Amino acid sequence: MTDYNALIAAAKLARENAHANFSNFKVGAALRAASGRTFGGCNVENATYGLTVCAERVALFKAISEGERRFDAIAVVTDTDRLTPPCGACRQLIWEFCGDVPVVMANLKGKIEVLRMSELFPRPFDSSNL
Ligand code: THU
Repeated sequence: MTDYNALIAAAKLARENAHANFSNFKVGAALRAASGRTFGGCNVENATYGLTVCAERVALFKAISEGERRFDAIAVVTDTDRLTPPCGACRQLIWEFCGDVPVVMANLKGKIEVLRMSELFPRPFDSSNL
């Protein structure tokens, strides 16, 4: 687990910027690229609700827009006893851009669970289906 401590810390830091005025559910994510760089993201809500972007996708798009294409792991942090896995939309994109990476779920009390994307998102649709 120590391997993931820095990634969890980055996700916690990103969570502090969450713009979750409507749900009050603050999420932080951090994505580690093969280059060694880590990209943080938080959820960003707005008055239409539907245009909300999850923390995971913010982190992912930041990394992609900086030229990163290979990834090692992603962390998701919330302040809940039940740990938070990525939503369905995020699972699709994490799978397509990151493949079978470990998803490190953690809360502010130090609870940690790691699942691989292939466990969270079995039988995906992706470019191999086209
Ligand atoms: N949310 C995330 O950012 N990531 C998740 O993994 C689950 C949900 C956000 C979206 C919305 O801003 C709030 O949490 C409640 O759904």
